[in-house]
Formats: sequence, C-alpha cells, structure tokens
Amino acid sequence: MGKYLKHPLGQAVLVFVVAYFLLDFGIEYIPPLLGWASAPIPNSVLLQYLITVGVGILLWVSDNDARWAEFKAPMHRVMVDPGQKTLRNSLMVLVPVLVAFATFNSVRPSVSAPTTLRAIHPSAPGQFVFQGATLQLAGLENPLRSQGSMEEHYEEGKRVYYENCVGCHGDGLDGQGHYAHGFNPAPLSFQDDNTIATLVEAVVFWRIAKGGPGLPNEGAPWNSAMPAWEDFLTQDEIWSVIIFLYEQTGNEPRTFEEEAGGGEAE
Ligand code: HEC
Repeated sequence: MGKYLKHPLGQAVLVFVVAYFLLDFGIEYIPPLLGWASAPIPNSVLLQYLITVGVGILLWVSDNDARWAEFKAPMHRVMVDPGQKTLRNSLMVLVPVLVAFATFNSVRPSVSAPTTLRAIHPSAPGQFVFQGATLQLAGLENPLRSQGSMEEHYEEGKRVYYENCVGCHGDGLDGQGHYAHGFNPAPLSFQDDNTIATLVEAVVFWRIAKGGPGLPNEGAPWNSAMPAWEDFLTQDEIWSVIIFLYEQTGNEPRTFEEEAGGGEAE
C-alpha cells in the first residue's frame, strides 16, 4: 500500500477520491455533527469541483519532468508492455462494459415519484390570523366587489401587481417573470385554468397573505419563494390585486356555492 502511495499516480488517485468523498458526503454530513446547517451540493456543482480538483492534480503531476514520467509510466506499461497482455485485454472488455452500464443507468426510466411532486393547492385552513385579526375562510367574500367602483379597484390592483408581483409572476401573468427561472417550484401562471380559476377569492387571499412560509406542513418541503404579503400590503391592497388578477386573465373566481355543491374542479 505504502509503495503505491509514494507513486505520483497513487497519490493523484488518493487525492481525487478523498476530494470526491469530502464534496459529495462531507459537505452534507460533517457540518450537522458540529450542529451547523448543511445541504448536499448539486451534482452539476460537484462535477465542476471535481474537474477543478482534476486540473489541479494534473498541474501538480506535470510540473516537473521526472514526476510526469513516473506518473505516466504505469499507464504506458499497461498499454504496450507484452507482459501485460491479459490485463490490457481485460481492460478492453471492462471499460466498455462500465460505460455501457453507466449509460444504461442514466437512461433507465425510474418508477419512483419525482421529488418535486407537490400538491399545487394545499387545503386552506378554516380560519387564519391576518395582521392580528382572525378571519374565517368560509364565506369570506371580496369586500371591494360591493364597494366603490370596480375600475378603481382594478387600477389599484394593477399598481400593486406591477410594484410587487411582476418580477415573479410576469408581465403576462403567466408565471414568466424575470426572476421566475430561479425558483423551484416556479411562480404560478394565473392564465392557466388550474390556478386561481379553481379557487375562491378567500383562498387566493390566504395564499397571498401567507405566501410560501404559510403553507401547511402536509406535502412539505415546499421551498416556495412566494412572499408573505401580509407583512407588506394592506387588506384592501390584497383584495384589489385579486380583482386585477381575475379581470386581467378573464378568469372567474369559484364561488362558495360551487364549493359546497362539490362541482367539478375545472
Ligand atoms: C419572489 C417571487 C414571487 C413574488 C414576488 C410573488 N410571488 Fe406569488 N408565487 C410565487 C411562487 C414561487 C408561487 C408558487 C408556489 C406557491 O404556491 O407558493 C406563487 C404562488 C402564488 C399564488 C398561488 C396561486 C395558486 O393557484 O395557488 C398566488 C395567488 C400568488 N402567488 C399571488 C401573488 C401576488 C398577488 C403577488 C404580488 C403581491 C405575488 N404572488 C408575488 C412567487 C412569487
């Protein structure tokens, strides 16, 4: 063993393997032992780090001629030495088999559920606290619909939307805002007929007020970037942006009668 570790090829392999284990498992499992937060690093990042490590190793083995010659020697021997014929032939079979196996593994369809699978619409709580006041969800109607002019509410909602929501939910209300691609789950499109079109306004209000942090535990992890707007908007601002969302997309909110009748979710 010691003999191999004195050889530059052995050292290179050792450094690479240790780097791989540190990056792939170390970052995930060592910090929690010390009570720190941690997360696995994504495979694409792992690959970049390993390439960097690989380049570093190659620089080191090749920076002086004697070490470079020593580093290459075993590989050269395996390729041309008449005495290594058996090893050479077995490698010629083994390497393609390994590549075939890796390829097969990467294209093999998997039957496990995708990790990002989540209910888009978690069930809303019966009541919730909004800026200190308890609101009952059942029967909660948009008060602005029976108050003042709809045009004004629409304009106010438009202002609220363009000041706060457009970066994620997009100019076309289609979930394609400038920042949208950075988020998983992605901001929802209000144009689709399976988002706000299937909800009563009270639920939309609850979602806007509580955002990602207010999502219930079932179906977690949510990782939703949707902010909790109760910290930034008034009750009327939220109701008016809701009017804007429905008017602008041509969607109709579901009514509590439809809910009670259990009508098909469209
Ligand atoms: C930082 C990005 C971001 C901003 C800004 C943002 N949202 Fe969202 N929003 C999301 C994401 C991501 C989701 C999807 C995940 C979820 O449901 O929490 C979402 C979901 C929603 C939903 C749920 C729709 C449904 O069908 O369940 C509503 C309603 C909503 N957003 C309204 C708004 C409004 C109104 C604003 C502005 C006041 C806003 N959002 C600003 C990221 C954002």
